[in-house]
Amino acid sequence: MGNFSELVFSGFLALLWLSARACSQAQEPQVPCFFIFGDSLVDNGNNNGILTLARANYRPYGIDFPQGDTGRFTNGRTYVDALAQLLGFSNYIPPYVRTRGPALLRGVNYASGAAGIRDETGNNLGDHIPMNQQVSNFANTVVHMRRFFRGDTNALNSYLSKCIFYSGMGSNDYLNNYFMPDFYTTGSDYTTKAYAAALLQDYSRQLTELYELGARKVVVTSVGQIGCIPYQLARFNGSGSGSGSQCNESINKAIILFNTGLRKLVDRFNNGQLPGAKFVYLDSFQNAKDLVLNAATYGFEVVDKGCCGVGKNNGQITCLPLQEPCDDRRKYIFWDAFHPTDVANIIMAKKSFSSKSQSYAYPINIQQLATL
Ligand SMILES: *[C@@H]1O[C@H](CO)[C@@H](O)[C@H](O)[C@H]1NC(C)=O
Ligand SMILES: *[C@@H]1O[C@H](CO)[C@@H](O)[C@H](O)[C@H]1NC(C)=O
Repeated sequence: MGNFSELVFSGFLALLWLSARACSQAQEPQVPCFFIFGDSLVDNGNNNGILTLARANYRPYGIDFPQGDTGRFTNGRTYVDALAQLLGFSNYIPPYVRTRGPALLRGVNYASGAAGIRDETGNNLGDHIPMNQQVSNFANTVVHMRRFFRGDTNALNSYLSKCIFYSGMGSNDYLNNYFMPDFYTTGSDYTTKAYAAALLQDYSRQLTELYELGARKVVVTSVGQIGCIPYQLARFNGSGSGSGSQCNESINKAIILFNTGLRKLVDRFNNGQLPGAKFVYLDSFQNAKDLVLNAATYGFEVVDKGCCGVGKNNGQITCLPLQEPCDDRRKYIFWDAFHPTDVANIIMAKKSFSSKSQSYAYPINIQQLATL
């Protein structure tokens, strides 16, 4: 090749290299990894091999998800799937049960349907992975990750300090514990106030353990307004306008006690109790309430019934294998008796990701947390 054609050729290679680089940069997420703790709202397959009624690896769950019925408890993406996309991850964060090797470096989802802050929560449905075990599973992941940093704990800690941790816990401690007097004694052992305090004491310890293992940017989610989900509306004749009157307000009041305490815990963690920690409180109670109040704006027509389910409000029994779901999932806030649809999850994730209002994410939003 002559000098000129060589020059053109190497210029061409440089261009190729640059565009490949630009491409891979575009795919770089805003944070190196994303770790998820929670229950069925964000479980993506950890319960598939477990003996429990809290499983969703059958049709029509996942009907709008490219990989089908993965074990997600909705028709499409969960709230954390939507967050992973907003954070720029090109793949969803994989479930703990199937994640090995270098994939651990991008993050892991430990969530398990029916799980709670308390170990016994969810026993009425069968086995599950409670928060205590999810934290131990993360400790196990950290041991494996250390290998990729040649045992350099400082380097590993510096890496983990840039990652986002998400924890959504507590719904089942009410639904599948406190408000289930046939199976549990907590409802008579504790007042709602004492129960919220007991849960927060355990949760505070669990979140502190995550911090000790390296978590610094931590998003904790409040419990949603579960007095208004189709399951409750079916039990107590509510119509669920979400405006308050038809929801079960005694359940919502108990939840608000927990949520108020959780927000205070976030303040304590941020104000010196856990040096260097940046906790964000997500008000999913408010977020879901707004979704109902402004349903029409978002294109929702049905706010009080599951798209798939059995009985009143489609809320008495969860969506059964091979059951026919509603036609237009985009018109429903709820997919089944308990869980939001793909569209609802995406709207809520976008609000907590970038809203400037502290009524969704406090004291900063997730986008700001990511860039800190
Ligand atoms: C609300 O839920 C509680 C606890 O499950 C139940 O005892 C109560 O009867 C319900 N109240 C209404 C008004 O539906
Ligand atoms: C719910 O409605 C049914 C039928 O209309 C009625 O028999 C029942 O007493 C109602 N339950 C409550 C808790 O209001």
